[in-house]
Amino acid sequence: MFEPSLAFVAEDTAGVGGYIVGALDSRAFEERLESDWWPGLRARYPEPPPGLPAQRRTPDQQLASVIHHPLRTPDELARRYPSHLHINLLPRLQADGYGSQLTRTLITALRERGSCGVHLYVTRSNRRAVGFYRHFGFTELAATEAKLPGPGAYRFGMTLAGAPSAGQGRR
Ligand SMILES: CC(C)(COP(=O)(O)OP(=O)(O)OC[C@H]1O[C@@H](n2cnc3c(N)ncnc32)[C@H](O)[C@@H]1OP(=O)(O)O)[C@@H](O)C(=O)NCCC(=O)NCCS
Repeated sequence: MFEPSLAFVAEDTAGVGGYIVGALDSRAFEERLESDWWPGLRARYPEPPPGLPAQRRTPDQQLASVIHHPLRTPDELARRYPSHLHINLLPRLQADGYGSQLTRTLITALRERGSCGVHLYVTRSNRRAVGFYRHFGFTELAATEAKLPGPGAYRFGMTLAGAPSAGQGRR
């Protein structure tokens, strides 16, 4: 049975305070979004007016636009870095090793399931996350603007097949 997505959470006495999610095969996950999720969300959140310039859209309109025009994983990325991840921790769990633990756990799970590489997108202004990914061993993957979620984004990747154990962090 194909397992398209994985999720792990970080939890303390106050409850769940962070997560990491990953798609083993981004292309297969995108197909599932098209069949199971986007149609209902598109009906609920209409596309912004076509004449409205992107920079004048409200945050809700920007997200609605993504629902109607989601980013697709390009061929060259799908071949070398087929998996994809997202991580978010609440402030109370940041800078205490949980990001490393979650990332290491997900990467191990992806590797065990045969993934040869993982990619992610990060906003360039998010200096902390950019530093975290570089520290962890991700490298920037060149991409034209059309293949990025926005002009202020980086695309990062990490090779998994045959690579040393995931995670450069101490914990
Ligand atoms: C970015 C994020 C996932 C990092 O997780 P974290 O738990 O805060 O980071 P950690 O404490 O696990 O740090 C892990 C390692 O990265 C290093 N690191 C963290 N930020 C760094 C930076 N800006 N530059 C260099 N190294 C950095 C730490 O020193 C640590 O190294 P060590 O293990 O060798 O001591 C977390 O802060 C977060 O969720 N932030 C808010 C949401 C977000 O930005 N998500 C990413 C969206 S793309």
